[in-house]
Amino acid sequence: MAVSLHRLFSYVLGALVVTAAAHKSAPSVTSTAASSTLTGIAATAPTIGPSHQVGRLPALGWNSWNAYSCNINETKILDAADLFISLGLADAGYEYVNIDDCWPLETRDASTGRIVPDPSKFPSGISGVADQVHALGLKLGIYSDAGTNTCAGFPGSLGNETVDAEAFAEWGVDYLKYDNCNVPSNWTDAATPPDNDWYNSNSAIRYRQMTAALNQTGKPVHFSLCIWGDANVWEWGDRVGHSWRMTGDVSASWSSISSIIAANAQHLDSVDFFSHNDMDMMEIGNGDLTLEEQRTHFAAWAFLKSPILLGTDLNNLNSTQLDIIKNAQLLAFHQDPIVGTPATPFNATASAPSTSPPEFYAGKSSKGTHVFIINTNTTATKTFEFGNVPGLGFGRFRVQDMWTGKNLGTFANKFSITVDTHDTAALLIHRA
Ligand code: GLA
Repeated sequence: MAVSLHRLFSYVLGALVVTAAAHKSAPSVTSTAASSTLTGIAATAPTIGPSHQVGRLPALGWNSWNAYSCNINETKILDAADLFISLGLADAGYEYVNIDDCWPLETRDASTGRIVPDPSKFPSGISGVADQVHALGLKLGIYSDAGTNTCAGFPGSLGNETVDAEAFAEWGVDYLKYDNCNVPSNWTDAATPPDNDWYNSNSAIRYRQMTAALNQTGKPVHFSLCIWGDANVWEWGDRVGHSWRMTGDVSASWSSISSIIAANAQHLDSVDFFSHNDMDMMEIGNGDLTLEEQRTHFAAWAFLKSPILLGTDLNNLNSTQLDIIKNAQLLAFHQDPIVGTPATPFNATASAPSTSPPEFYAGKSSKGTHVFIINTNTTATKTFEFGNVPGLGFGRFRVQDMWTGKNLGTFANKFSITVDTHDTAALLIHRA
């Protein structure tokens, strides 16, 4: 079993503190309010919540889509799993190896009604791939859709939730990404959801049906709602799954990365243990993102506690990119066993300009207080006052660079650092 010491320690510590770490929506089973006036499907839809045996921390792993699109097969999936081990990614905490769209045949099995893995792409079947991934100490994810068909046109699970959840459980699947394409017109959302609660919207109910089906199998599955920020998902996502996409699809460009950060920064109250805004999969290694932009992509996903699912052919990562995605201090912040909340924007100084996305974020971890500074423009000196960082106050503080582990010195009242174009400074701060 390739379980890293870091992960084992986090897990044990996490188990010890889980009762102390209050979460805003603890129960895994919810029910509609007694005063509810719900009618129709909203009145009878399942209210079972997601398993809390998995998904406490944001997922760390890899997904096939940004790397290969539809052009997948089991060799590529197992190659990624092997590279988790040989590149030290498993030791750094990466565990989910996720298959995206295009894994099955176009039609279900006529007698069982099941989705059939395409034997030309997956000769070992999904269960054979799961066995090999599990043998490496890793977990396997799969993909389906809360509509009639997936975005690429393969069978979707709407109306077939039970048969599909049973197949996924039987195959040993640990993670389900559930997409939002090809929704039949009778499932369209009303302008205002029943009882004015988007949990009762048709969109939420399409996902709730799969939560219930997964629950019935008895196998805990990490449930990832690929709902693109629709139906105010941040208001109800943790009653249905463990993470939920906040936007449309990411691309390997600064405008995409920065606009996803900006969109997500508005809904950080939803993020805590078992409750993760998903900023979409990583583009590190793809397109022509600068090194600084790749650092910001990783740092922001880490300090906002989004799932981090690598999305490139791992063979092509250079050592600088590997250092970014294996950065121990940023991963420790992301996977903190005691603090579930992300860093959030703060006013750095009285005269700090307002930007989109915000540039200054502060948060706590079990190591101390952190400040993250994204430079949304060209190289500049960025300054914040310690007294403006929530929880710090005035005085003298020691500042460490989380990227390098280097001690930057002791400072009074305020701190300044030069940040390159589109780069992110990541700082750990202690009272001196
Ligand atoms: C949607 C999702 C993507 C990917 C594709 C697959 O666009 O948002 O992440 O899964 O479908 O077709």
